[in-house]
Amino acid sequence: MPAPLPWTDDVERIQPDEAEHIRRCIDSMLRVNAMTFDLHRHGVRATHAKSHGFLRGTLTVHDDLPRELAQGLFATAGATHDVVVRLATESGQLDDDRKANARGLSLKVFDVEGETLEPGTTTHDLLFNTLPILGPGTAQKFMELSEIRERHFSDESAMTEEIQSRPDAEQMTAFHRLVGNIHPLAHAYYTQGAFGYGDHVAKISVYPGTAEQEALADREVTSDDDGSVLRALVESWTTDRETVFDVRVQLRTSEDMPVEDASVDWSQDESPYRSVATVRLPPQQPYSNARRVFGDDRLAFRPWHGLAAHRPLGSVNRLRQQGYEALGKQRTDLNATTGTTMTSASELPD
Ligand code: HEM
Repeated sequence: MPAPLPWTDDVERIQPDEAEHIRRCIDSMLRVNAMTFDLHRHGVRATHAKSHGFLRGTLTVHDDLPRELAQGLFATAGATHDVVVRLATESGQLDDDRKANARGLSLKVFDVEGETLEPGTTTHDLLFNTLPILGPGTAQKFMELSEIRERHFSDESAMTEEIQSRPDAEQMTAFHRLVGNIHPLAHAYYTQGAFGYGDHVAKISVYPGTAEQEALADREVTSDDDGSVLRALVESWTTDRETVFDVRVQLRTSEDMPVEDASVDWSQDESPYRSVATVRLPPQQPYSNARRVFGDDRLAFRPWHGLAAHRPLGSVNRLRQQGYEALGKQRTDLNATTGTTMTSASELPD
């Protein structure tokens, strides 16, 4: 296997007009989110609005990692941390689950050791989607997609038509085409963007951790299902069974693995995802009223909330640095509440 490239300052290249693209993108998303508020009369996340369950458990670092993988969060052999997980659908509206879409998994890891990007905090957030790549893989492309969504907020077929008329239509719609509509606990989930990985640069993913959980992929959502079937599927599994995810890391080993464009797949032949830790979520009720209200309205996951050893990289991640703050604040303001920086997994209500 090729050696991982070092993380140096010049892996990042600020894009021309990037500040303007970020400003326009966030402004557009704020306007869209305000229109969504008017549909529900409740503030929701600008993406990943609909939750399917919240879970509590642990992450344990493997105790035999080679040096290039034993970095940052995964540096201490055998270390165990409490975690909180949220499962959701990518859309910024509360869509019907029978509509295929990317799904998301958010992971908050507690009591991490080392320098954090927000001094004084001790949690590390990781956010994943069900595809290795992000179609609109630069801040400019993400801005263009956001503005198209805004222009056609109430007319999905006009939005699809405008996207399909673009020369990059295939890339922009990647996540709609490639993801099967299956049980949320059977997906693999990916960070899509690049992150620092101690001495190196990497993308991170989580995979179903047992054959039984993998087999849930056979459970496809059909037109006979209920519009909130994903919550029911999660609940029917987690109520009396353990959920396991295998955390894997893909190290950047070649200049052909860009940091600035998250739409380019890093070759898994050249650098496969390698297992670094296990997440175990014991049997539990994932969607009590108390859990849902806390999780939907107060809980927040931020890509820039975590260890400096895993600093987010590339233009979509620089966009996210401002985007999550602005849109997360809009969400809590609309609901006349405040976000919470959890310091213990026990704060997630039963
Ligand atoms: C790079 C790939 C990306 C991944 C894997 C990803 C994943 C996610 C996930 C899993 C969530 C749900 C977080 C939660 O449970 O609270 C989320 C929320 C969100 N994402 Fe992304 N995302 C990506 C890119 C972006 C970009 C480029 C933007 C543009 C600003 C963005 C804006 C947001 C916003 C505003 C929220 C909701 C924040 C809140 O209200 O707390 N995401 N994302």
